[in-house]
This record gives sequence, structure tokens and C-alpha cells, in this order.
Amino acid sequence: MAHLSQLKHSSGDWRKIKSDAVAVGIYDDLKLTRQFQGVNRELGRGLSNALAANLIKGKAGEVKTVVGKKGAIAFVFGLGKRGKLNAEALRKAGGGVSKACNANKIDSVSFLMPVDAKENYHSQAAAEGLVLGSYQFNEFKTTDDDPFDMIGATIIGGNKKAVVKGTIIANGVCLARNVENRPGNVATPTHLAENAKEIGKSGGMKVTVFDREKFTKMGMGALAGVASGTEVPPKFIIMEYMGGPKKQKPKVLVGKGLTFDSGGISIKPSAKMDEMKYDMCGSGVVLGVMKAVAELKPKMNIIGIIPSTENMSGDKAYRPGDVLTAYNGKTIEVLNTDAEGRLILADALSYASKYYDPEYMIDFATLTGAVVVALGHVATGIMGTDVSLINAIKSSSKTTAEKVWEFPLWDEYLEQVKSKIADVKNVGAPMQAGSIAGGAFLEAFVDEDIPWCHFDIAGTAWGDRDLSYHNKGSATGEVIRLVVDLMGV
Ligand code: BES
Ligand code: MN
Ligand code: ZN
Repeated sequence: MAHLSQLKHSSGDWRKIKSDAVAVGIYDDLKLTRQFQGVNRELGRGLSNALAANLIKGKAGEVKTVVGKKGAIAFVFGLGKRGKLNAEALRKAGGGVSKACNANKIDSVSFLMPVDAKENYHSQAAAEGLVLGSYQFNEFKTTDDDPFDMIGATIIGGNKKAVVKGTIIANGVCLARNVENRPGNVATPTHLAENAKEIGKSGGMKVTVFDREKFTKMGMGALAGVASGTEVPPKFIIMEYMGGPKKQKPKVLVGKGLTFDSGGISIKPSAKMDEMKYDMCGSGVVLGVMKAVAELKPKMNIIGIIPSTENMSGDKAYRPGDVLTAYNGKTIEVLNTDAEGRLILADALSYASKYYDPEYMIDFATLTGAVVVALGHVATGIMGTDVSLINAIKSSSKTTAEKVWEFPLWDEYLEQVKSKIADVKNVGAPMQAGSIAGGAFLEAFVDEDIPWCHFDIAGTAWGDRDLSYHNKGSATGEVIRLVVDLMGV
């Protein structure tokens, strides 16, 4: 277990809980609360000494380790401005505290909820932070100096139910991170299907998997085209969770499950090509959300769809210039085999449009390098057809502190993906609006009356961000929290 999967909760006196360390918060005015003074007393004034030495600033995200009498250890986490406490500060605090535990080889910690953290969401966020910050991917380490994994944390104070909810959501994120961090030779389409089945079993979902022969016969020519260059069996995975009335429209989530993207015949440069094992992070979002759904059991209907394959080159591979026919009958001229994500999503979106009558449809994909140029690793690019859905997404983005930024899907962009010889082509205008071209292409495969939004997570799904509850250069599981909030699970 390379992350905490359960947290304890107590509303009693923290001194009665056996932990190897205690974590307490302080605002940036550095005023001493009773809670803080209590910990200080137990530590033989270790905290006030650290304050006097100017070691503690109280900034959100800051976590300092203080050693008191007889080696007693406390972590002091910053809460930012007094009166402005927000959930993200607590999430960062939880993440930082867990990281400090692992770094200092401390087995267990008691996390004191600030007395003014009264909202349930505050407790949820602290729990999310503790679990997410404890995450380490050490599955492939076999040597003795394995990274240390903490074994327990107790949240003292706050709301117990919210702690449980935060833990469940964070476990969904950790499942996604595990699948995403695994390399392409392990996290194959079959591996994604096995995960889907396991989640389905625990959550009473129906899981259906179409293999190459089946989805080709069904008419998914775009997925079949991309998959033609690999012998690793591709899969089309469907997860159906029907927790609501049968007639209630389902919410449909679609995730790009490209388990390794070499670019195909339009091959990528070799630098950083290894990172293309992360090209299935869209499917990670779907699996992570469905894992949380399996445990939270909301009274609603949710469908998860994952088209999954590698993108390889070779004599069987699809070629630039090929024309493919997608599941909805539209023809696609392939001008670059490296724009493969939108192809496999085309079949998935068409399939969902035909078989479900979705309340809305959202897709997640590491679709374009261009989104990293536009937004860096800071925000997910979103675009879609429905103002109220997009507004709801923006609102959940604020709540969960997972940033999104909307791009326009104007008609001019739709023009740019029209083909001379087929209905659409899989690239837009050269060197222009690359992320929007991806979205504009996808729109051709979504029925007009279905509210739809596309998430381009290429900048946020892994990588560069230094955040206490992420690990730099590793999968983040980003937007799972946002989607759980959006659906009202
Ligand atoms: N998986 C990539 C997008 C990507 C690239 C994500 C780098 C993260 C980092 C996608 O399949 C792709 O190759 N897109 C092309 C599209 C282009 C050929 C129109 C891209 O972004 O270059
Ligand atoms: Mn590609
Ligand atoms: Zn790709």
C-alpha cells in the first residue's frame, strides 16, 4: 500500500490519541490559539521557540517540523490569512503533513482541525490532502531502501462523514495515479479493462468490454484505424452505474485510454517519448471517478466509457492520408497519425450519443501539446457546447481548486477541421489554435442536442507542478475531485 487508504476520526482530546506526531495550524498573524498553546505545552515550548526564531510564517502550504522535549514531534501548518480560511489551505496542509511523515519516517500523525474550520468541506479537503500527500509510487522498487510509507493518520475535530467522503475521493485519485504511473508494458488496454471490472464488481456496475473484432464489426473504424499498428489487444470499455431511477438521464464520462503514444507513422521525437505512457490519463479520470462512485453509491446514473489502444507504427499501422469511417458514419481524413486521441474519442462519443440519452457528456483527454503552450501546467483547457454545463464546471473548479480555462469553439474553428475529400480531417490549421482544433473535431461526433464539454488535461495530468499533495513528475489524478463535485455525488 503506497498511500493511506483509511483515516481515523476523533472528536475527543488529541492527547488521548496515540500518534507519533501531532499537526497543528497557525494563521499568518502568528497569534497563538488555545489549540496551538496546548500543543506547545506538551512539547515543552518547542513551538514557541520555533516561532521566536522566525521559523514559522503561517503561510498557506507551509509545513514545518518541530522537535520538542523527549523527541516529541509536531508539524505546524500554515493557514494563511485569519478569517479567510479556505479548503485548499487545509488540503495543502494535509498533503504537506503526510509528506513530512514519510520524509521523517514517522508512522502516524494526529491532525488537529482548526477550531474555525467549521464547514464540512474543510474536513473533506484536509482528508483529501492527507491521503493524496501520502501517495508514493514505489511498485517497481525491489531494493531494501524502499521509500518509507506512513501507516496512519487521525483527524481530530471537524466532521466525520466529510472525512470519510474526502478519503473515498482521494482513494479514487490514488487508484487513477497508480494506473497512470504504470508503464505502457503493464498498463495495457487489458489492464484498464481489468480495473474497470474490479471497480464495477465492488460498485454494482455492469461492465462490458468489446475486443478488436467486435468493435471493428460494430463500425468503430476510427479506433480500429489507430489500433491497427499494435498487436497489444485494444479494448472498448463501458461501465454502467445505474443508482438512480431507470428513466433518469445518465451523466456520461469518456476518457482517452491511449496506453502508449509513439505518434505512429507520424512518429514523435524520442525526447520525452517515455512520457507518452501517460496518454491514458483521461481514462484514469474515468476510473478514479467510478471508483469513488462505487463507494459513495449516489442515487443517479453514470456511464463511463474508455476507448483504449496503443498508437504504434509498422507495416500494419494506419497511414497519413488514410480515410477512416467513425461509428456515426462520418468519414475522417487522417493527416497526422499522431492526432490519434481525437480519433478514438470520435467513436466513443458517437457510441454514447447513440446508446444513451445523456444529461450531459464530458470527455477527458491528454489531447494536445498546444494546451501546455497555452496554459502551462496550471490549468485544464475546457471547451464545449452548453453554457450552463460550462458554468457548473467552472463553479466546481472554484470549489475544488482544480483550475480550468475555457476556450471558444467558434464556427471559424469548425471550418478548420473540414476535409477536402472526407467529412472532417484530424488536424486544424497548421500551427494555429491546436487545442481548439481538437475540440472542434470532437464536436462533429457529439449529437447537437447533448450538452457536452471536452477537458484537455495534457498540461495537468502529470508533471511539473510543485504542490504538497502531488508528486512532481508523476501522475496527479487531476479533475477527479472536480467531476465528483460537478455530478453532486
Ligand atoms: N498525446 C498527444 C498530446 C500530448 C503531447 C500530450 C505532449 C502531452 C504532451 C496527442 O496524441 C498528440 O500527439 N497530439 C498532437 C496533435 C497534432 C499532431 C495535431 C500534438 O499535440 O502535437
Ligand atoms: Mn499523439
Ligand atoms: Zn496521444
